Amino acid sequence: MKTLKIKQGTIVTMNKKREIFTGDIYIEDGRISEVSSEIQRRADEEIYAKGKVVIPGLIQTHIHLTQTLFRGMADDMELLDWLRKRIWPLEGNHTVETNYVSAKLGIVELIKGGTTSIIDMETVNHTEGALAAIEESGFRAVIGKCMMDYGEGVPDSLMEDTQTSIDESVRLLKKWHGRGKGRIIYAFAPRFVVSCSEKLLVKVRDLAKEYGVMIHTHASENRGEIELVQSDRGMRNVVYLHKLGMTGENLILAHCIWLDDEEMKILADTGTKISHCPNSNLKLASGIAKIPELLDMGADVSIGADGAPCNNNLDMFREMRSAALIQKARLLNPTTMPAERVFEMATLGGAKAMGMEKKLGSLEQGKKADIAIINLRTIHNSPCGEDNIIPQLVYSASANDVETTIIDGEIVMKDRKMTAINERNIIEEANRLIKKQIEKII
Ligand code: GUN
Ligand code: FE
Repeated sequence: MKTLKIKQGTIVTMNKKREIFTGDIYIEDGRISEVSSEIQRRADEEIYAKGKVVIPGLIQTHIHLTQTLFRGMADDMELLDWLRKRIWPLEGNHTVETNYVSAKLGIVELIKGGTTSIIDMETVNHTEGALAAIEESGFRAVIGKCMMDYGEGVPDSLMEDTQTSIDESVRLLKKWHGRGKGRIIYAFAPRFVVSCSEKLLVKVRDLAKEYGVMIHTHASENRGEIELVQSDRGMRNVVYLHKLGMTGENLILAHCIWLDDEEMKILADTGTKISHCPNSNLKLASGIAKIPELLDMGADVSIGADGAPCNNNLDMFREMRSAALIQKARLLNPTTMPAERVFEMATLGGAKAMGMEKKLGSLEQGKKADIAIINLRTIHNSPCGEDNIIPQLVYSASANDVETTIIDGEIVMKDRKMTAINERNIIEEANRLIKKQIEKII
């Protein structure tokens, strides 16, 4: 049995009492077996963390690893143009190799920023490139191939026949669900109502129940999008998903900006998960989601960076900061979205969205050892007292302050160096491959 000990760090437990104290964490076979002020037992490997802040690994609940390669290739556009003119043609030109490199690039950025788990939507084809990248890198992801069988402006390279889309999803589910010692979790990923037939959505609803997996989609991100749904399906987007019987605890919806009161109530009452993507929503000029109101209604909200070409970072620290700031300005109220609430969304909220609240999201005995160690003794974080650590993490810290990242008890980055991935190679490959991709679409 492999053991690891983190010694004398300032532990932000996120347990029920939200305790923060200086102490040790003991890890056996990927799980936290003890958290206390001092643990005498020696471990195979020990990390001395005095003066460092030890937090639960951050969880991003809406990411497109497949788009990391397209960072900077679709700036200053609104959603439907961004998709039709740039992102869909680029995704349609992926090969298994480019999708693998895109995923690796994203995974390295995420790990270097303390993110240990994601909910990922891939593109239509070549999802096995991303699955292989996740398996090799020790990362944890709920992941599904994107499903698209309908709609205007979808290139031939992405448009699928309904049954083919279903068959390929089920094939991937059967082959990959549970691989990487359970770190890979399959989910159905119909892109959004605009690009999915009703037949596809109904089948996905039934298959997700049959296999006990999640459904991950986009909803009500953009005004043009909800107008298309209204004219095509004759009702509001979330009302439509509810009428189809898709809402519920196994459905995660990215964005949820353009909701009316009835739709907000549907999401809160059904336990449907919401992934808030503040920087993507700002950059695509999509709008600002009513997150404080949704939280007050009891909705489950977590956070994600979305894809690299609509953000253009996968840095959870920037997302946390924006999640807090945009609501304060929208509501002209500095007390809304306090740092503690935002940090909870980034940890326990993410775990709940993945349906893994018993296994992830806090540093407690029995939970999986997904951990980030942060250095707040830097110029831009100083001074930092004992009693404002969480506000400091949300408002001042950045991805570069993460020193060490642990997933399932394995050290995947130590002292800012990736342990299993050659970072230089990934950067060079990404630059080489994107040139070829762009040549193909222009
Ligand atoms: N809606 C449908 N597809 C996408 C996507 O790839 N990104 C975003 N932000 N919204 C979408
Ligand atoms: Fe998205």
